[in-house]
Amino acid sequence: MEKNKFYITTPIYYVNDRPHIGHAYTTVIADVLARYNRFKIGSDKVWFLTGTDEHGAKVAQSAEAEGKEPQAFVDEISEEYKNKWEKLNISYDDFIRTTEARHETVVKEILTKLKSAKTPQGKDVIFKDTYEGLYCVGCEAYKKEEDLEDGKCPDHGKAPETLSEENWYFRLSDYTDELKQKIESDEIKILPADKKKEVLSFIAQGLEDIAISRANVDWGIPVPFDKEQTIYVWVDALINYISAIGYPDDEKFKKFWPANVHLLAKDILKFHCIIWPAMLLAAEIEQPKELFVHGYFTLSGKKMSKTLGNVIDPDELVEEYGADAARYLIISQFVFGQDGNVKVDEFPIKYNADLANGIGNLASRVLSMAEKYCEGKVPDKKFDADLDLKKIWQKIDKGFSDYKIFENLKEIWEVIRWSDTYIDETKPWVLGKESKQEELDQIIYNLLEILRHLGWLIKPILPETSDEILKRLGESESDCSYSDAIAVGKIKSGTKVEKGEALFARK
Ligand code: MSP
Repeated sequence: MEKNKFYITTPIYYVNDRPHIGHAYTTVIADVLARYNRFKIGSDKVWFLTGTDEHGAKVAQSAEAEGKEPQAFVDEISEEYKNKWEKLNISYDDFIRTTEARHETVVKEILTKLKSAKTPQGKDVIFKDTYEGLYCVGCEAYKKEEDLEDGKCPDHGKAPETLSEENWYFRLSDYTDELKQKIESDEIKILPADKKKEVLSFIAQGLEDIAISRANVDWGIPVPFDKEQTIYVWVDALINYISAIGYPDDEKFKKFWPANVHLLAKDILKFHCIIWPAMLLAAEIEQPKELFVHGYFTLSGKKMSKTLGNVIDPDELVEEYGADAARYLIISQFVFGQDGNVKVDEFPIKYNADLANGIGNLASRVLSMAEKYCEGKVPDKKFDADLDLKKIWQKIDKGFSDYKIFENLKEIWEVIRWSDTYIDETKPWVLGKESKQEELDQIIYNLLEILRHLGWLIKPILPETSDEILKRLGESESDCSYSDAIAVGKIKSGTKVEKGEALFARK
């Protein structure tokens, strides 16, 4: 396995729901991390996977409700996801759909493999059994009485239906000890720490075997050894992380598996942190390195979801603010990992403060002073500002590997604030009047170099703005490596710079 590589995934989203900014949250964060890693280690070493989860009772019911054939329905919504991701500049390397043949083949292969596998206790991994339970179609999962509030699923606000079927089962209970040990030792690393704790306490309560097929759901992949049943949608879906990269023989699989990180929210924690690792153990496939479980995007304290009817379409944000600003507004709401209220009313305030009056205004101030006082060229000086850019890059790098997206935004915006203060304190306009050219050259040089760093710092977050700033500074990605980009004092004296239009129009 190549060590210096980065494979990141988002959950594959259900096509019964239209994409909203809750889905966009995970996807933009994945995009930021993929872009940062491409910048740092090179595009050929990064793989960013997203996609859509298209089987199961829930999707079939939604298709029926719209009077459409399931395939036509899933084609349509899956396309909607792609369109919205394109508008948000999501740079995925692959988009997997669970109705694709390449996925179905691998799912059947894994099921066949599991059918002949034995658990650590020497029992069959897969067996047939009958179970009666409460099934929530919204979750596509069985629920226990104690999971319900007033008899209803708290996430979907509906009472689950009683299901009694003869199904194929996965002997999850036999993996209890191995899972516990691997999670405790961080061999399977679950982040943040409170989510790891939650998973361990769930395991400590005892794991029950789970049904992995359905007898009465036609819209699914047939069980290869029992044509009367279809594969449970979650088992089908989780396999996307390996089917998309060509398990078992494809070069891509050999290069990128195990995933560096699966990103997900806490709604699907048990599936990713217990069932998926157990499936991989049983199929003797390496575990993903990390699973990062974030919180909910809430509106007035409620999880944003179609069922609750409180969703915001990312297209509205892109239309109002542009792609970069929409990305910024989505990810700058609260610490990644926690739950947080999305302050939609404050979007224009945040947009003006951080983008129009923040990075946009700073770029325009610095570039227009370079035009006015330095003939639009980088002066011939050495960087001597009291700002430790090297340390900032170290923090940013550590921040991205620790999923501290929110803290990294703060760190970058601190550089913007520092620069504004530097301008206010050094007062280049006074020096200009006094014709103190040497001092002016030094200050403008420092500011242009800081702006160049900012151009690179915002690259994963605001890719269009980054390109524009760097272009105005005469810097292009094709002739600039990561180490050149982050080195201090690299801006070339004599380079022509250009002021250009406002980067973010005020609202
Ligand atoms: N299809 C399954 C996932 C299968 S992965 C093998 C599924 N789909 S989903 O459409 O419901 O997407 C859930 C994921 O979307 C969450 O885990 C999270 O990444 C994202 N989010 C959807 N709504 C969200 C919020 N309101 N807040 C935060 N994340 C949100 O589950």
